[in-house]
Amino acid sequence: MIVSEFIPKPYKSLLDSGSVAYSSPSNIALVKYWGKKAHQIPANPSISFTLNNCKTLTTIKFKKKTTKGFSFEVYLEGVIQKEFKPKIKQFFQRIEVYLPFLSAYHFTIETSNTFPHSSGIASSASGMSALALCLVQLEQSLNQETTKTFFNRKASFLARLGSGSACRSIEGPLIVWGTHANIIGSSDLVGIKYPYEVHPNFSNFCDTILLVDKGEKQVSSTVGHDLMHGHPFSEQRFAQAHTNMDALIEVLKTGDLTAFINIVEREALTLHSMMMSSDPYFILMKPNTLEIINKIWTFRIKTGLCICFTLDAGANVHVLFPENEANEIREFIKTSLVMHCQNDQFIEDILGEGAQSIKI
Ligand code: DP6
Repeated sequence: MIVSEFIPKPYKSLLDSGSVAYSSPSNIALVKYWGKKAHQIPANPSISFTLNNCKTLTTIKFKKKTTKGFSFEVYLEGVIQKEFKPKIKQFFQRIEVYLPFLSAYHFTIETSNTFPHSSGIASSASGMSALALCLVQLEQSLNQETTKTFFNRKASFLARLGSGSACRSIEGPLIVWGTHANIIGSSDLVGIKYPYEVHPNFSNFCDTILLVDKGEKQVSSTVGHDLMHGHPFSEQRFAQAHTNMDALIEVLKTGDLTAFINIVEREALTLHSMMMSSDPYFILMKPNTLEIINKIWTFRIKTGLCICFTLDAGANVHVLFPENEANEIREFIKTSLVMHCQNDQFIEDILGEGAQSIKI
């Protein structure tokens, strides 16, 4: 599958060397992407909040070379990472048709995260989107004139080929990925900015990430997605995601936080129930994940505050709440939930506007 829109005109000339840099955020899905078809096409549409503080900063230094094939090395926080190479090589193979300069340069890729290393926070979304953005920026400097809209579209398209959820990290604060009948412009190929009215209740929405377990995941997202093939509940699940997107359009317009909580928590638990009912089955939640969920529910009933949770493919809990309730809820998190985190670690984040180019 080749999408001609993203194949560039022949480059007029190649720069000998240079560098580009981008910072790109992580995102948290409200309606989850879980299950995909060939070429990183999602099995259902998803929608996410772009985060502001959890980011990857990537610099790429490039230098013309004469040898054939790809040539690059990767550093994380200054330390060379041989284990990142296969994933990046596969990414380069997938995107070379769209960025034909890739084999003309040696790249030194230097990357760092604002969140603690191995925190269990998905760094693939921020990492792959930062990498894609650097490469599109480099292409732009090879005499390719583009509009900002096309630049973001191509970056999202390429990021998706690195990691599906990464295509939702280019812009913010609300991004849709995957074709949905009632969302104009939605596409399986790229993430788009949510095109409809959003109630002020969602302005500066907060996400405190509780780092329950920082260990390596026993099952990678890629394997998990694969297990949706032949899963007994997959068709119902994919249909449910469409229905939940419809319900969310209404909620985003009216600002109905009770309905929002219902959709978001149901999505999180459905994601994990898909894992628990696949073959082989697995559980990524930990006892402390459940402890936190139960405490959130009790606190919500007691106070009437609009606090809720969502989960990624891991044990960490994202605690979501509106800005006007932030003081009381942050106090509750510190006094009652942080004790269930590994080394008491948590990250306070809010909605963000997406990636930013870094001048170097
Ligand atoms: C549970 O984007 O990490 O976070 O496309 O295989 O790289 P790959 O998967 P990935 O899957 C993320 C799944 C999720 C839900 C979501 O972000 O929508």
